[in-house]
Amino acid sequence: MPKNKMRVAFFGVWPEMKEYLRSKMSGFHCSINDGKIDLKKIDPKTDILAVFVDSQVDKEVFEKLPRLKFITVLSTGYDNVDVNIAKKKKIPVCNVPSYGENTVAEHAMALLLGLTRKLFLSVKRVKESVYDFHGLRGVDLKEKTIGVIGTGRIGAHLIKMAKGFEMNVLGYDPFPNKELAKKLNFKYASLNELLSNSDFISLHVPLLPSTLHMINKKNINKIKKGAYIINTARGGLIEPEALLKALESEQIAGAGLDVLEDEGFVQEEEKIISGKVNALQIKTNLMNNIIIDHPNTIVTPHNAFNSSEALQRIINVTVDNIKSFVKGEIKNDVTAPKQKAKKK
Ligand code: NAI
Repeated sequence: MPKNKMRVAFFGVWPEMKEYLRSKMSGFHCSINDGKIDLKKIDPKTDILAVFVDSQVDKEVFEKLPRLKFITVLSTGYDNVDVNIAKKKKIPVCNVPSYGENTVAEHAMALLLGLTRKLFLSVKRVKESVYDFHGLRGVDLKEKTIGVIGTGRIGAHLIKMAKGFEMNVLGYDPFPNKELAKKLNFKYASLNELLSNSDFISLHVPLLPSTLHMINKKNINKIKKGAYIINTARGGLIEPEALLKALESEQIAGAGLDVLEDEGFVQEEEKIISGKVNALQIKTNLMNNIIIDHPNTIVTPHNAFNSSEALQRIINVTVDNIKSFVKGEIKNDVTAPKQKAKKK
């Protein structure tokens, strides 16, 4: 019999991690699911909800769960949760702030190297029994400039890695970290300066109303001609139409993307014919497919977090968030007020 009366519902737990999670949650009344949130299956008496990024915690979910007291996401990003509703209902929303700064930064670097050394094409060619390097010339990273947008945990780790490759680094962040800049020997710049001076650009900011389409039709032309762009943060940071046009005109030489705007429709295209989509989402899905098929892109399926070590850390922090809440302490609360932005 569970010692704790709180009912906890997990969604999006990786099947191979279920037993590990169950062992950490012994004593709790738990439902552990590998799929995304399902309103038909969820217990309406759920007190605590823990979800991965593919579960949308929206108005419908809040209405279905009148006893909901706490939400924790099995991820760093929490844009899948309607934080405004949670705030109104005084339901804390917590995340896993630092399970994988190295994990995601390593994936960003893999995408960058994959693009610059034409790895995907090279491997495909050899597997097709064509042992020939013509047309596979790449570019060096050494002494080139990488612009890192968002110098938080993941961005900072990528900067360390870039320094190992002897690259110059420009950073952009509304909260510049001067100590970090000194320690890692890089300079902060305005967004426009970063766009026009970087050979490679990598995005590491959360998706917020203020960052939605931060790379867009108006500023994409400011990017240095022939630069490469990497996005392992959230698809909504880049306006797909702008990216597509820049790839077509070769303003951007290549894009390495782990995330796409409205990527749920690429994952489950049958949703498009279900009728619950609007014209813009259909257009975005079409553009996503063209981006995926473009010869100068590498797209991975929101996989940057997915290392064995990172999954274990996600489970550990999520369980700690839940157990702390039950004891009356709220850890990693993303709804807590932030410090004021300093102007760059
Ligand atoms: P973090 O919170 O440590 O750093 C984010 C940085 O972005 C902060 O320094 C913040 O000041 C900055 N920022 C906020 N608004 C900005 C703006 N308008 N312009 C430029 N910078 C801005 O977050 P962390 O851990 O580095 O993660 C970054 C993002 O990466 C997450 O929000 C998440 O969306 C994404 N992510 C993606 C994963 C994947 O599997 N593809 C896995 C983990 C995180």
